Amino acid sequence: SHDAEPFLPATPEERADLGALRSAAAGCQGCDLYRNATQTVFGEGSPGGRIALVGEQPGDQEDRKGAPFVGPAGRLLDQALEEAGIERGDVYVTNAVKHFKFKRQAGGKRRIHETPNAGEMRACRPWLLAELRILEPDVVVVLGATAGKALLGSSFRVTKQRGRLLPLPDLETIGTPVAAKELGGEDPSKADTRLLATIHPSAVLRADDREAMYAGLVDDLRIAGRALA
Ligand code: URA
Ligand code: SF4
Repeated sequence: SHDAEPFLPATPEERADLGALRSAAAGCQGCDLYRNATQTVFGEGSPGGRIALVGEQPGDQEDRKGAPFVGPAGRLLDQALEEAGIERGDVYVTNAVKHFKFKRQAGGKRRIHETPNAGEMRACRPWLLAELRILEPDVVVVLGATAGKALLGSSFRVTKQRGRLLPLPDLETIGTPVAAKELGGEDPSKADTRLLATIHPSAVLRADDREAMYAGLVDDLRIAGRALA
């Protein structure tokens, strides 16, 4: 199979250890994105955190520094979390895809972000699922379409599904035919882990109506914050 699965640690003990997962992810060659990127950018933050935030993929600065959400989108996210009353100690941040995908500007040095395709999202998903199994957060916040699709499938739409608590699908059946059938059926109040979708902080940075977009992001994060056990 062409995905991250063969690169995950072999033993259940190591798979249940964030540090072991992180070390293993550093050597992942589960899709072609490792070839041009600087390094794997694994999740970071509080292992006891009750909220896991899932972005799309590392950006230019994240790729250089090896940490998620340390560039402009990360600064905006930090501000929004603070405004929503969510403490850093309650947060783990990661991405649906763990290598930076980019193209070079013709003749230039600038690296332009490219959205990962469905194959790359699927290939990288074992890392995200492994992180979530260990963390067992109260709420998984998906930031934008890529993260939403990674966990809820290709029919996910931010505009339709943002801002309300949904059940987190069973991590063991995500990506299988069983998962497609389950989607949307369950009562979110009964799920151990909820999922809340919102816009990606980069979408705020790009928007014309930046203030309204930012306010919407903060509102959504407040809903996630209120759902903490
Ligand atoms: N955008 C993301 O989705 N993730 C990061 O880590 C940085 C920017
Ligand atoms: Fe592995 Fe994910 Fe990087 Fe692809 S993007 S090489 S699956 S860590």
